[in-house]
Amino acid sequence: MIVFTKDGRKAELMKFKPVYTDHLLGYLVNLSVESKSRFGPHPFTLDGINEVLGSSQEVLGYIAAEAGTDRIIAYSLIKTGYLDTDGNRYSGYGLHLTHSGVCTYAPSVADQWQGSGLGSSMFEFILNDIRQSGFRTMILWGGVQASNSRALAFYQQRGFMVAGEFEHKGMNLDMYLPMADR
Ligand SMILES: CC(C)(COP(=O)(O)OP(=O)(O)OC[C@H]1O[C@@H](n2cnc3c(N)ncnc32)[C@H](O)[C@@H]1OP(=O)(O)O)[C@@H](O)C(=O)NCCC(=O)NCCS
Repeated sequence: MIVFTKDGRKAELMKFKPVYTDHLLGYLVNLSVESKSRFGPHPFTLDGINEVLGSSQEVLGYIAAEAGTDRIIAYSLIKTGYLDTDGNRYSGYGLHLTHSGVCTYAPSVADQWQGSGLGSSMFEFILNDIRQSGFRTMILWGGVQASNSRALAFYQQRGFMVAGEFEHKGMNLDMYLPMADR
């Protein structure tokens, strides 16, 4: 699917396929130190990518490429269910998640494309793709750092709500999106 950013740049959104692995690695290693510190579902290595996206159907990958090129400019993950560490924190807040009704989301956009609307376009693309999956709640993979004001604004604008907060290398928030009426 082709989308335009607010400043008129053109991107193609698609589901990840193994053939894109090397390009994805290039994208990840070229993220700024700050963006790397914000996005943590897996190590930025071939093994890291393969472990999460390799064989299992449990995690879906989505990428954006600069239109007409192989250059990846955004990458997001949707996991069916949730990690134990995330689920345990939700239980601590008194919110008991069920694996079948929950998915876990982790977005990233290349530094030069952040703030361009690309993250929002990808989010809509993903919601459309998982629309039939029966998820009732989307949570964030490892929460979001309280210092990550861009991501916080991004999630709030998309309807995410704060479930609770926790300490891990600084303060973090767990946020969730009720999906029933989307
Ligand atoms: C968080 C992230 C995925 C958002 O994607 P994006 O393409 O930058 O976001 P968008 O341009 O679609 O912006 C969506 C909203 O975010 C907010 N936003 C964008 N830029 C912002 C900035 N510089 N400061 C504060 N809020 C900002 C705005 O609310 C914006 O909506 P608006 O443009 O309609 O006002 C992206 O910035 C990113 O990858 N950051 C680094 C990695 C990361 O933090 N991942 C999330 C880990 S929990």
